[in-house]
Amino acid sequence: MTRKAAIIGGGVIGGGWAARFLLNGWNVSVFDPDPEAARKIGEVMANARASLPALSDIPMLEEGVLSFADTITEAVEGADYIQESVSERLELKHRVFAQIQQSCPDTLIGSSTSGFKPSELQQNAANPAMIFVAHPFNPVYLLPLAEVVPSPASDPAAIERAKEILREIGMFPLHVRKEIDAHIADRFLEAVWREALWLVKDGIATTEEIDEAIRMGFGLRWGQMGLFETYRVAGGEAGMKHFMAQFGPCLQWPWTKLTDVPEFTDELVDLIAGQSDAQSGHHTIRELERIRDGNLVGFLRSLKDRNWGAGKVLREHDARRRVAFTDGSREIAAAPLAMAQMQVLPSWIDYNGHMTESRYLFAASETSDAFLRFIGADMDYVASGFSYYTAESHIMHKGEAKLGDRLTGTLQVLSADAKRMHIFIAIQKNGVDVATIEQMLLHVDMTAGRAVAAPEAILDRLMPVAAAHAGVARPEAAGRFTGERK
Ligand SMILES: NC(=O)c1ccc[n+]([C@@H]2O[C@H](COP(=O)([O-])OP(=O)(O)OC[C@H]3O[C@@H](n4cnc5c(N)ncnc54)[C@H](O)[C@@H]3O)[C@@H](O)[C@H]2O)c1
Repeated sequence: MTRKAAIIGGGVIGGGWAARFLLNGWNVSVFDPDPEAARKIGEVMANARASLPALSDIPMLEEGVLSFADTITEAVEGADYIQESVSERLELKHRVFAQIQQSCPDTLIGSSTSGFKPSELQQNAANPAMIFVAHPFNPVYLLPLAEVVPSPASDPAAIERAKEILREIGMFPLHVRKEIDAHIADRFLEAVWREALWLVKDGIATTEEIDEAIRMGFGLRWGQMGLFETYRVAGGEAGMKHFMAQFGPCLQWPWTKLTDVPEFTDELVDLIAGQSDAQSGHHTIRELERIRDGNLVGFLRSLKDRNWGAGKVLREHDARRRVAFTDGSREIAAAPLAMAQMQVLPSWIDYNGHMTESRYLFAASETSDAFLRFIGADMDYVASGFSYYTAESHIMHKGEAKLGDRLTGTLQVLSADAKRMHIFIAIQKNGVDVATIEQMLLHVDMTAGRAVAAPEAILDRLMPVAAAHAGVARPEAAGRFTGERK
């Protein structure tokens, strides 16, 4: 049965939570008194729909239903999980928890608070044990981290249930063992922010120069190895002890102002806002969000290929959903499977400004590769000496794709047996075919160099799809050969 999440507060963060739950198949009810809330969440949803599916190598679950409630009581009714994301004011959060717990005292309530400790959130609550911090990062629909912070009054079993729900929607719950103001990640960000404010105030660097110092260097390292693993590598063969001996003394040098905070005068605010306008004012915030999301999808995909860091979380998320597809708890619909989401990149374009011919085959292989992973013929399977080889392809061009277009690759199994898989791929833009690619794939023993029957584990996943697709109308173009009259 589809589960329900209640999102209380639908701003930047609440909207991101709503998108993450919805795109992972949950129904979502939002309460936010802001009359603009529905429009704002609609924009977050558009960004999320354009980016999150590109991280998945298996079909997305069917999107849940989004509704807006007139009261907190209505929003939380029947909810399996509640996420509070109202403005960062403790007395407001207390009021919200009191209203929630009047009708749902035993439902999990995660708070997005960036700064408050769970014991502060729980003060005077009807049931403090159900309230904890689940602190996400913007954009919530793409970044996996959620810091989960209990207090001694929290119910450990409830915290484990919450972590499981977060994993289910593709997040990485980091259990913060001891509560502390601003948890773990924001304490770093605060230190970095303080140093940046000093550098601007003292006229050492502009906002742009500081951003270049981060994104051209250590920011790239942090995104994949974090702080300690990066420094371990920097210590060379002598490792971490050597690194600490070398750089430890710097902490005594006047490198850092750490605990001093520059005074937040109007002058400093104007200086920073002015520099930021000069740096980025030619983009709207929505444009910057889309640029950010595209870059994050690129990073995350590359980490996923390497099964590293946040990429590991993405693989685990696919594996969970794959089980949901194949353990019988979810029927495979009698419809082509949407397997891949792509965007036409600058390097995909020919001299006419259209997607170049070879990229259609690439788009087809992105689609068929995702399907092969779906049925278990993944990279580990290839490493074991078996694979599916394409024996024949037929492409029909039916439309044009241009720079920036978002494409979906759908796949229909026309027929399959132990050795063969006959598939029909459609590369679509806004639901309309731009190209279709019909292929025959053979299951091959790579050492022996010949086609052999696929093992049961693969056939157990492939055949249910073939059976479901037997009920789908055969595409008109299937079986066509080049030069055939229409
Ligand atoms: N912005 C970030 O980067 C970020 C990151 C992580 C966590 N957080 C935390 O998330 C929470 C929300 O922050 P935000 O950035 O989304 O702020 P925001 O201002 O974008 O959104 C807050 C929303 O709460 C709504 N609201 C106010 N009173 C309400 C009430 N009584 N009931 C329901 N909704 C109400 C407001 O209308 C608004 O839409 C804060 O606790 C913040 O610390 C923010």
